[in-house]
Amino acid sequence: MNAPMKVAVTGAAGQIGYSLLFRIANGDLLGPDTPVEIHLVELPMAEEAAKGVVMELEDGAFPLLAGTKVTSSLDEGFGDVDVALLVGARPRGPGMERADLLQANGTIFIGQGQAIDANAKEDVKVVVVGNPCNTNAWIAAANAKRTNPANYTAMTRLDQNRAIAQLSKKAGASVTSIEDLVVWGNHSSTMFPNWFDATINGNPITEVIQDESWLQGEFLTTVQKRGAAIIQARGKSSAASAANAALDHTFAWATGAVQGSMTSMVVPSDGSYGIPEGLMFSFPVRIEEPWKYSIISDLEINAYAQEKIAATRDELVAEREAVKGMV
Ligand code: NAD
Ligand code: LMR
Repeated sequence: MNAPMKVAVTGAAGQIGYSLLFRIANGDLLGPDTPVEIHLVELPMAEEAAKGVVMELEDGAFPLLAGTKVTSSLDEGFGDVDVALLVGARPRGPGMERADLLQANGTIFIGQGQAIDANAKEDVKVVVVGNPCNTNAWIAAANAKRTNPANYTAMTRLDQNRAIAQLSKKAGASVTSIEDLVVWGNHSSTMFPNWFDATINGNPITEVIQDESWLQGEFLTTVQKRGAAIIQARGKSSAASAANAALDHTFAWATGAVQGSMTSMVVPSDGSYGIPEGLMFSFPVRIEEPWKYSIISDLEINAYAQEKIAATRDELVAEREAVKGMV
């Protein structure tokens, strides 16, 4: 057994929190050899509900659950944590874009970024889920002075999983046969699920699915608009699949377990592919060793993909401009 790790989850009493916490306690975040102490960070008005979740966590008798703490104090919540999952934020409703949440949610990530930098372990790993997650992660990372800004990430793994599921259905192939499908850019309707580098059973997607109009049409828009379609159908935004993706994102980062040679992570740009340095952009990354990613910077990008990547880049630049005054 490894030493226990401390994991903070903000928005712990929310719907994603409810799908996430039990699986963290089950070892799905950090593996079966790492006990976890979970800090449930909530707004004061939701602390009581979070305490109810803790009762249920206890009632699960999870062997890996080394302790819990419910708090609305950010200093306490992020105190000495190894991993911070920033979920707590307002979700969008029908007809909204995620960027419409920027003013309401952006400020949350100033205080949280400061508290993480002041209180967490120096090599803390941060995963932002609360929307709009790329730009919220940029706000949080802008406060990183003692901690490493490169360890502030956001989640497009849900979009990657969605893309894989759509391709699997279309090709009649298992989800595990699809590798190297990476989502580029913003977790928004401009995201680009790049199928040009992906394979099915080792064969290029474009050879297996010889239907360019489906790839450029239905596939692309289904993935880009899946979040909105779920809100339309459920009346609430995705929760269990989002929690699942947060686990996938973190587990892959922690262990290097990726499907193929690359996975999608929103990380600060190093300037690759002409993406402005520091912009929180979803790139193809390789996990070099546990908790170490690197941006794969030498992929060939065709003219079609370049156009899509430029559109999502421009949107993120505009989002960053809109919140610059906040940091
Ligand atoms: P929810 O409303 O069910 O829960 C949010 C919880 O966060 C609430 O319990 C609330 O009290 C808490 N909260 C709000 N502000 C907080 C703060 N400052 N500190 C601590 N806790 C705070 O929402 P949800 O469905 O769990 O979604 C949470 C966020 O995740 C939303 O912004 C949603 O859009 C986003 N999301 C992102 C993805 C993604 O792929 N990146 C996927 C799904 C949802
Ligand atoms: C999603 O992709 O399901 C989430 O980001 C929620 C949303 O607002 O779409």
